[in-house]
Amino acid sequence: MTLFPALKDANILVTGHSGFTGGWVCHVLKQFGAQIHGLALPPLTHPSMFDLTKVETLLTSQKWIDIAHDKAVLDHVADLKPDAILHLAAQPLVLPSYADPIGTFRTNVLGTVNLLEAARKTASVKGIVVITTDKVYANSESGLPFNEGARLGGHDPYSASKAAAEMAIDGYRLSLPSWRRQMVIDTARGGNIIGGGDWSEHRLIPDYARAILNNKPITIRNPRASRPWQHVLCLVHGYLILLDRILSGETAQTAKSHGEAWNFGPAATDCVPVQTVLEKLACYWSPADLTFERGEQYEAKNLMINSSKAAQHLGWRPAYSFDESLALTAQWYKTYQLNPDDLQALTETQLIQYFEKI
Ligand SMILES: NC(=O)c1ccc[n+]([C@@H]2O[C@H](COP(=O)([O-])OP(=O)(O)OC[C@H]3O[C@@H](n4cnc5c(N)ncnc54)[C@H](O)[C@@H]3O)[C@@H](O)[C@H]2O)c1
Repeated sequence: MTLFPALKDANILVTGHSGFTGGWVCHVLKQFGAQIHGLALPPLTHPSMFDLTKVETLLTSQKWIDIAHDKAVLDHVADLKPDAILHLAAQPLVLPSYADPIGTFRTNVLGTVNLLEAARKTASVKGIVVITTDKVYANSESGLPFNEGARLGGHDPYSASKAAAEMAIDGYRLSLPSWRRQMVIDTARGGNIIGGGDWSEHRLIPDYARAILNNKPITIRNPRASRPWQHVLCLVHGYLILLDRILSGETAQTAKSHGEAWNFGPAATDCVPVQTVLEKLACYWSPADLTFERGEQYEAKNLMINSSKAAQHLGWRPAYSFDESLALTAQWYKTYQLNPDDLQALTETQLIQYFEKI
């Protein structure tokens, strides 16, 4: 593959490599010849993307560290001397953030600050790409898409913690000249990620998969809530563009040489309600037994982001429509159901097909 030439042999620290998105990131980075160093907690779900697709075999090194443990993070990054960092480790779920707001802020804010501090003190690091979310925007439910300049906010502890991480990042960006440190800090704000290998609780696709696999009903909270669904490979594509620009020195030559925020969302037509996802999953895989129950906690009804900046300046656009993304997702879980030993090969086939298409 000739895309992303700066990734070849680059030492990339990936935090959160034992999770859903992190697992896909490792498979893709391996295809492009990077040396991958993982930092995370051991897989938090069973089954996991990590075990099913043998992520450990892709790694040059791996360390189990709590990202909120400052000394451990600083010491590890100083020893490793990576060229760049992709920061995915997080408590990434809205509902558990209501149950554990302190833990969520600790991991998502303090953890990010620890990594920023470790990066700025380690001269080898050219830059970091921090994965936040489309939920960082103060959402007044106007239904209009947010661009990167929209006001940050957060109606629940998870969203607020990611918005707070963005504020900390901004402070670091602005302080870099005072520290006489050239380093890039980009943030990537993506929508609802779908794809094989997600086993988190309280997420539609894994909940649906568990319902089919265990022959149990699935409880649906907000069937009319609309979300920007997109395949994990579309997001990983965006992250790799940012990493490649950092490693090649391209970002450092731009007006925003210390980095900036980027939206990576699907086309407006691919922001569809939960109900549509359920109907299509029934066709692509199998119908599930649905029960409906109003959730007690607030969840946004509408959420859309405007990704024209990434299209214009990075040449990024999602290569898959909502339908294609969901079909690939269903294919992955069906393979889990019928032939789990094929999942590593299927994951590699899906990613090669994506990057052949762009
Ligand atoms: N999945 C989505 O729909 C979605 C949407 C937008 C943004 N994101 C963001 O993408 C990133 C990855 O999300 P995901 O869905 O793959 O999550 P995931 O839960 O599958 O993986 C989370 C990873 O973070 C690690 N982690 C959690 N707490 C940690 C701690 N205290 N110390 C070290 N590592 C820790 C876990 O070990 C795991 O490797 C997160 O930052 C999330 O906020 C996800």
